[in-house]
Amino acid sequence: MPLGFSMKEMKDNKRILVLPGDGIGPEVCKEATTILELVNEIHSLNLSFSEALVGGSAYEATGEPLPQDTLKAARESDAILLGAVGGPKWDELDYQYRPERALLGLRSELDLFANFRPAILSKYLTSSSSLKANKVENLDLLIIRELTGGIYFGEPRGRTEGKKEAFNTMIYNQDEIERIGRVAFEAAQKRNKNLCSVDKANVLEVSVLWREVITELSKEYPDVRLSHMLVDNAAMQLVREPKQFDVIVTGNLFGDILSDIAAMMTGSIGMLPSASLNSENKGMYEPVHGSAPDIAGKGLANPLATILSAAMMLRYSFGLDKPATQIEMAIDKTLEQGFRTYDLEGSEEQKLGTREIGQKVIDNLQNLK
Ligand code: IPM
Ligand code: MG
Repeated sequence: MPLGFSMKEMKDNKRILVLPGDGIGPEVCKEATTILELVNEIHSLNLSFSEALVGGSAYEATGEPLPQDTLKAARESDAILLGAVGGPKWDELDYQYRPERALLGLRSELDLFANFRPAILSKYLTSSSSLKANKVENLDLLIIRELTGGIYFGEPRGRTEGKKEAFNTMIYNQDEIERIGRVAFEAAQKRNKNLCSVDKANVLEVSVLWREVITELSKEYPDVRLSHMLVDNAAMQLVREPKQFDVIVTGNLFGDILSDIAAMMTGSIGMLPSASLNSENKGMYEPVHGSAPDIAGKGLANPLATILSAAMMLRYSFGLDKPATQIEMAIDKTLEQGFRTYDLEGSEEQKLGTREIGQKVIDNLQNLK
């Protein structure tokens, strides 16, 4: 799984599908693709780019949030960069037409079961965190969320006929738990070897099985220290003492919630990238934030989470560690220079728009060469 690359894969053309989507999606994707094009040139990476419709904008154009053409292009690509989907305009649509369906469809059709959500606090943003500096300084934790199972996809789901009642099913089987467990143990091995599995085993049968399977699996990874935590406690501990965590592994719904909590510790959700991988390192990369319709089209959005997602793409799908690290360093340099977007704390004179902060990152990247 992640990070095994043959020489052949390294040399081949790498097809990137860009799905800008809705709201601020196109603006932030533009900055990230400009940077990918630049590193492509600097390092002769053999990246090629194409674009397709997704989300509300796809619905407007075709009547579907995830058109067949887009799905086909996604299957044929080696990695996907997605901006954001959704907006108030489409809130009243039936479930199957909602922009979010595109996201869920891509995740499940491409079997992107392993969702990496790192929460890393740049040392230049300590004061932007919602927690006290001493609690979050140098925070670096990784949430690994199972992304194609659990209550998001469980059947049956629906409405009971004849009364106002609705239901979803939370279901996980051994294979699903094992494969996300392996990804998490392997990620922990590359970090501080500390894995916390989060569940609700005092109430949910699914969680009892989850705990059993993860515990059994831990025998294969004796170098990793495994702990279990109930999800309510984990939510509290994340806010109380976030640095106690190294890697967290959890199911789809709990991971959705915990990763938003972790996001606020890094100063802004505008700073958080994510990767969703299948078992062959094919991945979809997207900022954790949404489409922010209130600021869409104004050039005010923070593109750094999308640029960081592009860096994750280079590292996880293509094994290109060096250019990935350089992008991250260029972002750090930009923050060190005091430049901020409007979602981040900082002096008003150094606040920059989407394009302008993207350009600072480019300048810093070019100076690194
Ligand atoms: C996320 C989002 C999605 C999810 C929504 C938009 C379907 O909140 O990626 O965290 O719940 O997975
Ligand atoms: Mg979410």
